[in-house]
Amino acid sequence: IKITFVASDGERREVEIEEGETAREAALYNDVPGIDGDCGGVCACATCHVHVDPEWIDKVGRLMHDGMEADLLQFAEGTTEYSRLACQIPMKPMLDGLVLHLPEQQY
Ligand code: FES
Repeated sequence: IKITFVASDGERREVEIEEGETAREAALYNDVPGIDGDCGGVCACATCHVHVDPEWIDKVGRLMHDGMEADLLQFAEGTTEYSRLACQIPMKPMLDGLVLHLPEQQY
């Protein structure tokens, strides 16, 4: 399953990841800068903040406003309606080709 990460300066990086892994793992395994994922992927740090490409947001699903993920993202810098935590995006075949934009900085 392919994911393209777009850095804040516009640089694109396409990586591959197995089904069942998350977008956070895809970034970490491939040394994509911009995703720290400090908490180990358990939705507790918000350093894996990404902006889902508008064309993909419905497939990925929007942030649930009353969940732990939303609580955490309040602390992230520059969140938008397309913000998600990469560790909370499990990859599946329907997400092949997903485009995620990286924020300028985490926090
Ligand atoms: Fe910590 Fe996603 S890796 S919230």
